[in-house]
Amino acid sequence: MAKERWSSKLGIIMAVAGSAIGLGNFLRFPVQAAKHGGGAFLIPYFIALLLLGIPLMWIEWTIGRFGGGFGHSTSPGIFQTLCNKNRFIKYFGVIGIFAPLVIFIYYVYIESWLLGYSFFALTGLYNSCTTEEAMTLFLRGYQGLARNNFFSSLRPAYFFFLVTFALNLLILYQGVQRGIERVCKYAMPVLFFLGIILLVRVFTLGTPNPQFPENSIYNGLGFLWNPDWSALRSGRVWLAAAGQIFFTLSCGIGIILTYASYLRREDDVVLSGLSAVATNEVAEVILGGSIVIPAAFAFFGPAGLARIAQGGSFNLGFVTMPLVLQRLGFGQAFGFIWFGLLFLAGITSSISLAQPAIAFLEDEFNLGRRRTLALFAAVTFLLTNAVIFFMGRGVLDEMDFWGGTFCLVLFATIETILFAWVFGIDRAWTEMHAGSDITLPRFYRFIIKYVTPAFLLAILGFWLVQEGMPVIRLHGVPAGNVPYVTATRVLLLLIFAGLAWLVKKSWDRRLKAGAEEEGRRI
Ligand code: ALA
Repeated sequence: MAKERWSSKLGIIMAVAGSAIGLGNFLRFPVQAAKHGGGAFLIPYFIALLLLGIPLMWIEWTIGRFGGGFGHSTSPGIFQTLCNKNRFIKYFGVIGIFAPLVIFIYYVYIESWLLGYSFFALTGLYNSCTTEEAMTLFLRGYQGLARNNFFSSLRPAYFFFLVTFALNLLILYQGVQRGIERVCKYAMPVLFFLGIILLVRVFTLGTPNPQFPENSIYNGLGFLWNPDWSALRSGRVWLAAAGQIFFTLSCGIGIILTYASYLRREDDVVLSGLSAVATNEVAEVILGGSIVIPAAFAFFGPAGLARIAQGGSFNLGFVTMPLVLQRLGFGQAFGFIWFGLLFLAGITSSISLAQPAIAFLEDEFNLGRRRTLALFAAVTFLLTNAVIFFMGRGVLDEMDFWGGTFCLVLFATIETILFAWVFGIDRAWTEMHAGSDITLPRFYRFIIKYVTPAFLLAILGFWLVQEGMPVIRLHGVPAGNVPYVTATRVLLLLIFAGLAWLVKKSWDRRLKAGAEEEGRRI
């Protein structure tokens, strides 16, 4: 099968930006920023962007384009082309298919809530929920965790899940250029347009509650932007900032290198990678941060904002924001804009999460698009059902821990060492600049070779001790959830083993095909 290609430079930048701009920008970022002191968080955040995020973006764009030149679109093959001497290296690449697949399984379900809530906002279904308790109960009813006046079963949630799942498959079925690229080219401008409408509305709120004049939009912005240098002494803030950079840029997951494999060798990666990062950062810091934080600050005050942040991303997105938007004139329309924006952000990310597994089956097994998608759909559909029906049992959190957190840091560390040390910084630097529209300052050689890997190893070690070990030891998991969490772990192990087996099979096939070709020539 001929290798797919992006149709234009703008196309791939929009596709990578589409992958990067997701729920992380509009829900995870404000929660992290609010939890870690607003301006205190932004300093380590921007340092992590410069020393981790941007270098990782360049690494993934470069190795993806390099591996694509050898007909590989996923990390097992790409890693193998970087280090041909070691036959085991491809198995490290399994992480780059496993992590996005696992994230896709729960992400697509959360994305479907956004579709549901867009509909509820427009039709005014949650209008009577005017307190946090009522809105929380509405959400729990929708998730099937509580019965209430609105939902007596999981049927509505299941319906929106089916629609969202089908939409994802439909886009993926059209392929890279006609599906992913086309959708992102339209979705990204619409998303920015909707974001700007919300931003203007929030900025013109002033002081919504005259009884508390200090709870103003301006003070909310001050909370986000006034720097607090003392935060640099806190390891936790560093860890949270670095984690956010990975998640938001879709780095260390295995997606960007798959997208970059559809480039030609003469296509630029340095400036394009940087443009995708810049687009994501505008969406995250300017839109995500400046809509949600000042709005929540103005309505609930600094103490309320801190409490909301402790409640996590779902609480902010599905409880706080609908309550805030409801209090504005045309609240239903603004609610629809908010959830519509999030849905667009979600779907352009979920299709990117699906692509590595699809590309792997297509490239390495020559399965046609239809059979590949049927297989992908069957597996992910079954697994998402586990998330849906065992919601509240820790299944989703467990998947997020392994797929969405642990694997990211591990994969990023492996690919950086492979690129800068095994492939070698001299070749790496030349490869990065092939076809490049700009030349990078030479100090970035030093950063990529020493600073980024050292930073990553420090984070990996620190994170494992501080946050990883308690989770691995099931610390704080309610006794009733232990069997479900354990079963999820076993399932994830089986998926990983299955993928490793497929990698082995695909290499056996290649070797056999190579030997037959050799035989014919002799
Ligand atoms: N980068 C994607 C997000 O921020 C996964 O949601």
